[in-house]
Amino acid sequence: MYKLFIRPLLFLVDGERIHHIVFRVLRIQGKIGIQPILRLLFQYNNPKLHRNLFGLTFQNPVGLAAGFDKDAKLIDELSCFGFGFIEIGTLTPQPQPGNDKPRLFRLPLDQALINRMGFNNEGVIASVDRLKKRKSKIIVGGNIGKNKNTPNEKALEDYAYCFEALHRYVDYFVVNVSSPNTPGLRELQEKEPLRKLLSYVKSLSLSKPKPKPILLKIAPDLSTSQLDDIIQILKETKTDGVIATNTSISREGLETGTDELETIGNGGLSGKPLADRSNEVIRYLREKLGKDYPIIGVGGVMSVSDALEKIKAGADLIQVYTGFVYEGPGFVKRINQEIKYWTKFSMK
Ligand SMILES: Cc1cc2nc3c(=O)[nH]c(=O)nc-3n(C[C@H](O)[C@H](O)[C@H](O)COP(=O)(O)O)c2cc1C
Repeated sequence: MYKLFIRPLLFLVDGERIHHIVFRVLRIQGKIGIQPILRLLFQYNNPKLHRNLFGLTFQNPVGLAAGFDKDAKLIDELSCFGFGFIEIGTLTPQPQPGNDKPRLFRLPLDQALINRMGFNNEGVIASVDRLKKRKSKIIVGGNIGKNKNTPNEKALEDYAYCFEALHRYVDYFVVNVSSPNTPGLRELQEKEPLRKLLSYVKSLSLSKPKPKPILLKIAPDLSTSQLDDIIQILKETKTDGVIATNTSISREGLETGTDELETIGNGGLSGKPLADRSNEVIRYLREKLGKDYPIIGVGGVMSVSDALEKIKAGADLIQVYTGFVYEGPGFVKRINQEIKYWTKFSMK
């Protein structure tokens, strides 16, 4: 029904505008109290789906990826759609508008999106205020970054500010150094700056009476030697987990024509074309980090079989963004039903 009737209508409107309209509808839905109906329709609970990772028990392994609800506006409403966890952010210390519009583009031929949002967000404090009021007990991750005009030499201060502000209100943290849309950000993935950043955030966490898990989110466009450096640093700094991957700057193998791609311009590619590379990275990380290291797989989950592929590649949990946009509100439930069925026959 979503793909046949609703999606064609939604896809007539500019991608970012429709995102805001859907948010408004979801907020109204939250107010008129139809959440129990949505939960009945879209949630799927089964003890076989529970996952224990870095000290947290996830109700199921399918999460909403960062960027969808950057400002924690709809945690309660989105939790009705069957997610096992929701990642908010990327949040920065100060509010910032992000890049000029248009900055979100659909590539229906490729089941993909290109975005260059540029960490548009209302600032971490606005999210903290909302998190204080949330009712749902769903696991929430806080994805943190730096403001556009903060030079990399001062990036640590931005991450520390966000960490301190969010610490009491999220269940785990994600250090995001992999968005292609903030100039210079991905340089923080290089050996020395990354080592410094992760050990600093980890030490902040350990200084708390209740330390929170710290995860690193990485890009899909890293070379094997860069991945090797990251793996070494994850171990050295005792970082609790890794999220692979963010969007890609690659445009390889797309069906969408070169002219259209040129008109769209820069940005991170998400959705189907990202799946193979993301799985390759996950497989490599699993091989090098061992069977017990927590890995969250994200990138190109557009079908239930894509979700299983990610788990087979080595992901403990998965996240969706573009697939949720293309497949609609029943997507998470379908994935969870399949994972439960598959878990019965696998010994993972
Ligand atoms: C419009 C849009 C905004 C995003 N914003 C963020 C963000 O702020 N922080 C982040 O870590 N990832 C962000 N992402 C990346 C997603 O979290 C995810 O890693 C990526 O889209 C790959 O997953 P997918 O193929 O399921 O979409 C964004 C993705 C999209 C499409």
